[in-house]
Amino acid sequence: MFNVKWGIIGPGGISSTFVDDLLLPSHQTHSGRDQTIKHSIVAVGSRDVLRARKFVRDHVGTEGGCKSYAGYEGVFADENVDVVYIGTTHTHHYAATKAALLAGKHVLAEKPFTTTAREARALINLAREKSLFLMEAVWTRFQPMVIEIEELVRGGKIGDVRRIFADLGWDAQIDGLSSTSRVISPELAGGALLDLGPYPLLWPLLLIPEASTSLPSSISASIQKTQLDSIASQVDAQTSFVLNYDQSKAQAILSCSITSETFGDSAVVIHGSKGTISIQHPCFRPESYTVKLFAETEAESTKEEETVVTKIAGRGMYWMGDEVGRCLRDGKLESERMGLEVTLLQMEIFDEVRRQGGYELPEIEL
Ligand SMILES: NC(=O)c1ccc[n+]([C@@H]2O[C@H](COP(=O)([O-])OP(=O)(O)OC[C@H]3O[C@@H](n4cnc5c(N)ncnc54)[C@H](OP(=O)(O)O)[C@@H]3O)[C@@H](O)[C@H]2O)c1
Repeated sequence: MFNVKWGIIGPGGISSTFVDDLLLPSHQTHSGRDQTIKHSIVAVGSRDVLRARKFVRDHVGTEGGCKSYAGYEGVFADENVDVVYIGTTHTHHYAATKAALLAGKHVLAEKPFTTTAREARALINLAREKSLFLMEAVWTRFQPMVIEIEELVRGGKIGDVRRIFADLGWDAQIDGLSSTSRVISPELAGGALLDLGPYPLLWPLLLIPEASTSLPSSISASIQKTQLDSIASQVDAQTSFVLNYDQSKAQAILSCSITSETFGDSAVVIHGSKGTISIQHPCFRPESYTVKLFAETEAESTKEEETVVTKIAGRGMYWMGDEVGRCLRDGKLESERMGLEVTLLQMEIFDEVRRQGGYELPEIEL
C-alpha cells in the first residue's frame, strides 16, 4: 500500500469536497479505485488558522495528528507532506504553486491551473527544473465513464469526430452575490470562462486527435459581460467559443455561463461520421450517455441505440487522487492522462477567448 501524505491549502468549498472524497473508504466508492493507494491528510494551511482547525475537525478528524497552520508556508515546509493540493481561488493558484514547488513539494493545483498561459508556463518550467510532480486537478479525466467514452470514440464506434457541442451553465444568481464573491469579482478573475470553461473544453482536448498536441487552427469567441451595479468592472457572464481543428476536420462549439443553467442530455454531443454520443449534464461528472448509430437503410431510424448509466459515490474526485498517488509512487513527474502540455494549450485558448471578448484580468507578478 502506497500512502500519499497530502497538505491542503485554502480549506474552502472544493478542498472540503476533495478531502471528503479522498477519505471515503474505497469499498464505499465506485469501482476502478486503486486498492494499492491510501490517502492521509497530514497538514492544512489557511490565512485564518481557526478555519484550518475547523477543517481538520470537520473533514479529517483529530486522531491522525493532522497539523493546522496559520498561512501556507508551514504546509510547504512540513517534512511529512508529500504533495500539496492548492484549493485557493484562481488568482492565488500561481503564487501558492510556485511557493510549494520552491519548497520542494509536488503539487496538484485546482482548475483553472492559473489565470493566464504566461503563469502556467512559468510553473511548468519551475516544476521541470526541480524535477517535481505537477498537475492541474481536472478530475473529470479520471472518471471511469469518461475513459469509457474516450475508448468508444477512439475505437471508431461513431466514426470520425466531426463536431463536439459542449456546454456548462450554472445559474449562480449573481444579482444576490457579494461583490467580493470569487464568481463575480474581477480581482479574483471571476466569470464563467475560467471557472466553468475547463469542462466543456475538456471534451475536444480529449477526443479530437490533434487537440491534445496543437492549438486550434482558428478560434472565434464571444463574451457577454455581467452588468452588475455593485462592481466597477465586469467579468464574463456567458462565453461561447468555436475551435476549428483543420487537420482533423473537426469543430468544437463550446459555451459556459454563470447566469443560465444547463439541463438534460445535451451537455455534450459528439457527432461522428457514423453516429453520435450524447452525454448528460453535468459534463464534469457524467452519470449517463447514449450512443446512436446512423441507419444504413431508409427504413430504420437509427441502426443501434444504447444508454449507459452509472452512479458515482461521493463527488468522484478520488480517482484523480489515486492517479496522483500512482505517479508519486512510480516517480512520474506528469500524469499521462492530464499532462502539462494540455494544461498549457487550455490556458492559451482561454487567453485568446478573453482577448477577443475584451476581458482583461489583473496582472499577476511572476
Ligand atoms: N474541481 C471542481 O469541481 C471545483 C469546484 C469548485 C471550485 N473549484 C476551483 O477551486 C478553487 C476554489 O474554489 P472554492 O469554491 O473552493 O473557493 P472558496 O471556498 O471561496 O475559497 C477557497 C479558499 O481560497 C481562499 N480565498 C478565498 N477568497 C480569497 C480572497 N479574496 N483572497 C485570497 N484567498 C482567498 C481561502 O483560503 P484561506 O482559508 O487560506 O483564506 C479559501 O479557503 C477555484 O479556483 C475553483 O475554480 C473546483
